[in-house]
Amino acid sequence: MYSLFFQLFFRRMDAERAHHLAFRWIRLAARIPVLRTFAAAVLAPRHRALRTEAFGLRMHGPFGLAAGFDKNAVAIDGMAMLGFDHVEIGTVTGEPQPGNPVKRLFRLVPDRALINRMGFNNEGSAAVAARLAARRPVFRTTVGVNIGKTKVVPESEAVRDYVLSTERLARHADYLVVNVSSPNTPGLRSLQAVDQLRPLLTAVREAADRTVTGRRVPLLVKIAPDLADEDIDAVADLAVELGLDGIIATNTTIARDTLGLVSDPALTAETGGLSGAPLKARSLEVLRRLYARVGDRITLVGVGGVENAEDAWQRILAGATLVQGYSAFIYAGPFWSRSVHKGLAARLAVSPYATLAEAVGADTRKVTV
Ligand SMILES: Cc1cc2nc3c(=O)[nH]c(=O)nc-3n(C[C@H](O)[C@H](O)[C@H](O)COP(=O)(O)O)c2cc1C
Repeated sequence: MYSLFFQLFFRRMDAERAHHLAFRWIRLAARIPVLRTFAAAVLAPRHRALRTEAFGLRMHGPFGLAAGFDKNAVAIDGMAMLGFDHVEIGTVTGEPQPGNPVKRLFRLVPDRALINRMGFNNEGSAAVAARLAARRPVFRTTVGVNIGKTKVVPESEAVRDYVLSTERLARHADYLVVNVSSPNTPGLRSLQAVDQLRPLLTAVREAADRTVTGRRVPLLVKIAPDLADEDIDAVADLAVELGLDGIIATNTTIARDTLGLVSDPALTAETGGLSGAPLKARSLEVLRRLYARVGDRITLVGVGGVENAEDAWQRILAGATLVQGYSAFIYAGPFWSRSVHKGLAARLAVSPYATLAEAVGADTRKVTV
């Protein structure tokens, strides 16, 4: 039914407008008590077997909403109502910024993909922190806060910008993500180089510890699928060295030619990061590589081209404790999370693993033993 609705309605509309419209409906539904209770009962049934623990946090399950959908933390309850076990808000930058000029979001329908060059449009760390502070949660969900660099801040002052966001936001975050992998902020991805990443992650860790006492805020880094294999290994080693809690793999890709795209070349040539189905193979490959390197020492989050329960299951077997999605939600609609959970529970039940935690990395371990 949603696919018919998508074809008749959303597909004809500008992609960003459709996003804002759907987003408004989700927020509205989450504000009406009977509606949200009914929606959550239908769309977010809990499966005991899927209960997950990641970096010390207990969650209803392993499946969350990737960063970029709720940039300003305005719809956390709405997304929990739709069944996401965790919601990663952001990317939030130190200062507010409008992002790139529109049009900046494109649907590659035949490829089940998106290209975006949003450029971190967001209200900035002070406004988002105030919103999170005022929040009265309706549904219990885990909130990740993803931070990035303000565009006008020069690269030489990037650390200061991330630290500012950390000081404002860490206390409101169940976990914190340093995003150094979006292709739409000039120079951002060069922060993935170990000699830049080390001081950045160290400073963010210190800022989080300084501002949040009484608990240790888990810190993760989100990486690009376009890193060379040696660079993936280098980030993995650094993460272990610094005692990071997790790595999120992956962000969108700037690759095009290697993806076998079938959409209109005028569209596929749009500048920006590509997400969705064509990203699946590379994201999975990066995840496998990371797990082979870090094993259980660091929690891995698998994201990129996850379209259904089978994809989520494959990420878990490859080494992901948590799985995230974004683009497939646009194409699959509000029942997406429900079907992923149902399919995951069914797969776990017929698998040789007693718990989801036991399944994490099982395939990668087989290959590397
Ligand atoms: C429109 C759009 C905006 C995004 N914005 C962000 C962002 O602000 N920060 C971030 O870390 N990732 C962002 N992402 C990347 C997603 O979080 C995710 O890593 C990527 O889309 C791959 O997952 P998917 O194939 O399930 O979409 C964005 C993705 C899309 C499609």
